[in-house]
Amino acid sequence: MSDSALPATGAVAAPRQGKKVPKKAEALVLPLFRAGGEAPADAEADGDREEAEKAPVAAAGETVELPAPEFLGAETLEALLARIEAVGATGEAGEVTRVAAPAEGETGYDAALPAAVIAVGLGAADELDDEVLRRAAGTVARTLTAAEPEFSAVATTLGDFGLRAAVEGWLLGSYRYTGFKAAGAKAPGVTFVADWKGAKKEFVAGQVTAESAVLVRDLVNTPANRLYPAVYADILAATAEEYGVKAEVLDAKALRKQGFGGVLAVGQGSAREPRVVELRWKPKKKKKSTPKLALVGKGITFDTGGISLKPAKTMENMISDMGGSAAAAAAVFAAARLNLDVEVTATVALAENMPSGSATRPGDVITHYGGITSEIINTDAEGRVVLADAIARAAEGEPDYLVETSTLTGAQIVALGNRTAGVMGTEELRDRVAALGREIGENAWAMPLLEEHEEAVVSPVADIRNSPNSRDGGMLYAAMYLSRFVPEGLEWAHVDVAGPSYNTGAPHGYTPKRATGTPVRTFIALAEELAAR
Ligand code: BES
Ligand code: MN
Ligand code: ZN
Repeated sequence: MSDSALPATGAVAAPRQGKKVPKKAEALVLPLFRAGGEAPADAEADGDREEAEKAPVAAAGETVELPAPEFLGAETLEALLARIEAVGATGEAGEVTRVAAPAEGETGYDAALPAAVIAVGLGAADELDDEVLRRAAGTVARTLTAAEPEFSAVATTLGDFGLRAAVEGWLLGSYRYTGFKAAGAKAPGVTFVADWKGAKKEFVAGQVTAESAVLVRDLVNTPANRLYPAVYADILAATAEEYGVKAEVLDAKALRKQGFGGVLAVGQGSAREPRVVELRWKPKKKKKSTPKLALVGKGITFDTGGISLKPAKTMENMISDMGGSAAAAAAVFAAARLNLDVEVTATVALAENMPSGSATRPGDVITHYGGITSEIINTDAEGRVVLADAIARAAEGEPDYLVETSTLTGAQIVALGNRTAGVMGTEELRDRVAALGREIGENAWAMPLLEEHEEAVVSPVADIRNSPNSRDGGMLYAAMYLSRFVPEGLEWAHVDVAGPSYNTGAPHGYTPKRATGTPVRTFIALAEELAAR
């Protein structure tokens, strides 16, 4: 194992796209609707797919409707429907029902049908959207990943209702991280049966998007003794090379030379030195109109709080405090893999926040990259301190848009819960990013900057201070602090994902325990939208 690879990665299904169900498939996963709805409104996003081929034939029963590709034949479809109804399936979204397929020759269907058929509920056909599909695909994929999986290869026609969403949901749901356990897990390979024109492109977009979120999850799930700034920077540089992305790593010496006072102050309590990594994707045929998107991410590889030490309870979750940086980096790799006509950079600040004899103290005054001074009131408000440097640096590249993300505040969780990111910044980009997040299933909500924080951010001994006296509106105070490093006139958004980036509860839909990958899909969607201008 080289230093520039992760020590452990999660299990995830290997996907392929095929014209038919392959011989080796041991199970066929079919969509199932609750009876009574209109025909699926469907997926304008399906591009080139002809309306006529779009809706597969459906067998309608009392309680459910089973749409299936024509290759099954009406007789087989009816036989399957009867079996599915016989075990009480309702077609509720996310319901997983397994039946034995009719044997060869038992119905009119002659080709070998996999012995097992798994129907996954999509709810009412007229209420179907991409997120319902993603979650259903994720739920069924999750049940198939195991230490000793029952199937090694399966096929599905879920892509009939949105190939990209089905691929994303399936891959993300199949993911399971077992880290350093003796008994790992495996996910069966999956063939998406899709033979229409344009299917390949949808499939690849879904695969790249899902694999990007998987990379974020793997990075976030890796414990902090195995992923610290130097190792993390090496992994990002090696991954960048693989995808044709330019990488520059600033080590502690370079950070000192260039005045990254915030990153250095947060990292100085740790034996692991900090890094700043800059990643850059530039399309080969760059046009004058190619927009520039600068992403910035918080990369605290572990957050103890420093001298303002955190309580012990659930502190282990602070391995996830680098999730923003992972999402920013993975989005640049995705832009390169999708060859998007948009210049995307990521500036990520990597440091470990530790208490020690060399740690930053409350009351210390530091000088950020670019010269703004900051009074450190609370060393546990470290994310904004490293981000300040990274934002100032990224702004030097004169981007059209600057979007930063971080597991920044517990206050985000108080305000919006565990599944909805808080988005702050300049109005237009803030609202756009929040809306995009909701569209692709990474829930997000726009939040304001408060005038009272303009006063609260003032320090008697520095330009600003990193923490206020009052905890009220803590997420918004952090955004106000960050706003001081954004040049006047630059469109920017700050996405606080303290809750949504790490699932401390039970798995649901395509979201496993621990790292979720959020908000990398929002970033990819934004880059795609900018590229398609
Ligand atoms: N990394 C934490 C925020 C966090 C909390 C992320 C819970 C994920 C789950 C951040 O560095 C932090 O400690 N913030 C403090 C700020 C406070 C001291 C002003 C917080 O939110 O308590
Ligand atoms: Mn902290
Ligand atoms: Zn933190």
